[in-house]
Amino acid sequence: MSVKRDEKKPILLDIGCGKNKQIRSDYKVIGVDIWENSDADIIGPANHLPFDDSSVDAIYTRHFLEHFTYEETIELFNEFFRVLKPGCSVDIVVPHVSCISAFQDPTHKAFFTKRSFFKYKHTGFYVEKVKFYWFRHPYRGWFPFIIYPMNKILNLFNGLERFSGLIGGIYEVHCRMIKDSSELDLKHTPGAKLLN
Ligand SMILES: C[S@@+](CC[C@H](N)C(=O)[O-])C[C@H]1O[C@@H](n2cnc3c(N)ncnc32)[C@H](O)[C@@H]1O
Repeated sequence: MSVKRDEKKPILLDIGCGKNKQIRSDYKVIGVDIWENSDADIIGPANHLPFDDSSVDAIYTRHFLEHFTYEETIELFNEFFRVLKPGCSVDIVVPHVSCISAFQDPTHKAFFTKRSFFKYKHTGFYVEKVKFYWFRHPYRGWFPFIIYPMNKILNLFNGLERFSGLIGGIYEVHCRMIKDSSELDLKHTPGAKLLN
């Protein structure tokens, strides 16, 4: 299957978009999902994307990677690496291991902390930033004056991740990984920066 590129905008793939495809004015968003009733533009598996090598500008994937084993996620990262242009990013949102929602779905196979993303370095991606959200982001509830400062604190002090059970768990972890533009020299992969 091929996708008509009728717009000049850069291409963003929303992998496993379900019924919640990203809305972005700065990208042409193409949803990919195996579920026929989803919002996807391409119905098919994410490990065989119908795109040429180095042809995609960005990838976004929310509440998707936790449905795969480590070996399966490596296959997915290899496919993301193939289609992304060098230096471009994969934005990943997954439930944090400390949150009940990570475990209440029995189909989840993987659980993530901040450090989990470093285990994909050999696939050619480096971790640019990792950020925690105590509640779903963007937060739309009644107590933003509590939630936003707490997000700040969690992201300022890395060690607090360990004690997140005391505050009912961290809901989500967001990670931005970059396709290493040097491709061959993966030894110099930079470390993660927590966002402030
Ligand atoms: C938990 S839903 C997340 C939906 C959406 N991203 C969101 O944040 O609400 C996971 C989605 O991944 C899709 N999915 C599962 N395995 C897939 C695969 N191998 N390739 C593409 N999509 C897949 C499912 O059909 C489902 O729509």
